[in-house]
Amino acid sequence: MSSFPVIAIDGPTASGKGTVASLVADKLGFHYLDSGALYRLLALASEIQGIDVKNGPELGLLVPKLLILFKNNQITLNGEDVSEAIRTESIGLRASALAVHPAVRTALVGLQRSFLQAPGLVADGRDMASVIFPDAVLKVFLTATAPARAERRYKQLIAKGISAKLSDLLQDLQERDARDSRRGAAPLVIADGAKVLETSDLSIDQAVKIVLDWYQSIAA
Ligand code: CDP
Repeated sequence: MSSFPVIAIDGPTASGKGTVASLVADKLGFHYLDSGALYRLLALASEIQGIDVKNGPELGLLVPKLLILFKNNQITLNGEDVSEAIRTESIGLRASALAVHPAVRTALVGLQRSFLQAPGLVADGRDMASVIFPDAVLKVFLTATAPARAERRYKQLIAKGISAKLSDLLQDLQERDARDSRRGAAPLVIADGAKVLETSDLSIDQAVKIVLDWYQSIAA
């Protein structure tokens, strides 16, 4: 792998890792990888093509056929803006279901690593520290209680004009936590050497500052 620094931020669903990771990337002038978006893109594309979510090999074969572009805050799939379409709960659940397949995870490794470019990368997901960037200079496991995460996800969806019910969201995220943690391939784990950041009582700015302080103390 290359010598550019990677900050890996892993954690369960709706822990705020995406928001924190992209702000840390902005502050440092680093690139940003939202690896969950890739699983969501595959969920959307495979739904459109009618591929069964249980068919790991076929899902894996679809990955190299996807034309994915991240530009500013926009994500396009085969030329179409899907930034909003991939954020629904049903696509999130489908993404979590197809993420269990080793063929899918393997097919996405190269694409994820290609985001590592000068001057550095902040990558968020479930297995950034354990599998994709094991040499990351800083590994953070960002978490919060399930009710705090359900509340955050609720606010996020409502702000985007997507209707949601808090009790359904809590149930969905507990389902997703269980699946992400129990799967055999790259389960959600606290990687060796990772620093745990519990954010239930922290603002986004506080969480970002802690990660930046950790990075500065390593980089110094
Ligand atoms: O928004 P949320 O945190 O729920 O999920 P996401 O980061 O957008 O990822 C969607 C799904 O993809 C997750 O529920 C995981 O099952 C899966 N995923 C994964 O398995 N490995 C990653 N590195 C990122 C996401």
